[in-house]
Amino acid sequence: MIIAQITDTHLAAANAADPVFRARAENLRECIADINGLDPMPDAVIHTGDMTQHGQAAEFAHARSLLAALEAPLYVIPGNRDGREGMVRAFAGDGYMMPDCAFVHYAVEEHPVRLVAVDSLAADGSAKGDLCHDRLAALDATLAEAPAQPTALFMHHPPFDVPTAPDPFAYQRRRAGSDLAAVVSRHPQVVRIFTGHMHRPWTATVGGVAASTVPSVAVDLRKGHYAPTMAGRPVYQVHRFEGDWGFASETRLAGSGAISR
Ligand SMILES: [Fe+2]
Repeated sequence: MIIAQITDTHLAAANAADPVFRARAENLRECIADINGLDPMPDAVIHTGDMTQHGQAAEFAHARSLLAALEAPLYVIPGNRDGREGMVRAFAGDGYMMPDCAFVHYAVEEHPVRLVAVDSLAADGSAKGDLCHDRLAALDATLAEAPAQPTALFMHHPPFDVPTAPDPFAYQRRRAGSDLAAVVSRHPQVVRIFTGHMHRPWTATVGGVAASTVPSVAVDLRKGHYAPTMAGRPVYQVHRFEGDWGFASETRLAGSGAISR
């Protein structure tokens, strides 16, 4: 199975005059064109949140119009910028997300790797995340439904320290990370955790499972040090699953022209 991961597009409405937002839309278009050119095609595309800059309906409408060009199925989760309600209104019609949910929690069953979305938004709408008892219990129950099926979690806030970030831990409470790790460690079929939010690439181990955060698609918001040849060009990641060992991940520079395989 092949998963393309895009994250932190931070889009404004289509009519936003600021050139920064026009550039971000172009960053996403470039990633989508690159994803559509992969051979073989990905089985799924995940957007790990902060799709929009302010969580407004017009911003989600713009995001949807751009993402409609994807030729593989898209699954999304909210980031702190998006808020929960706006994203659910924009995407519940796609069928995989409940329209009236207390939090965005779903499992995608139709691929070789089961995908489980984890809602990491805090109740007070802050930039930092949280994982309450109800969500962790729901995750535990969902994972218990398919103990033999390789499973990847995807969520906005990385549940591990990112030491190069000004504030390395993305959650309000350190317990959020250790509680998630405890759930993950009870379910050995969980093979990978994909996240966003930090706008830079880091990997860690959470509950014995490889977890990662990736650069923002929005180039102006990307953090970290990159080769000069990458200036102005967006990156995303391609995660390939092989039953023999699990996931191998590649960071792709969109528009580089080379076919992935
Ligand atoms: Fe975020």
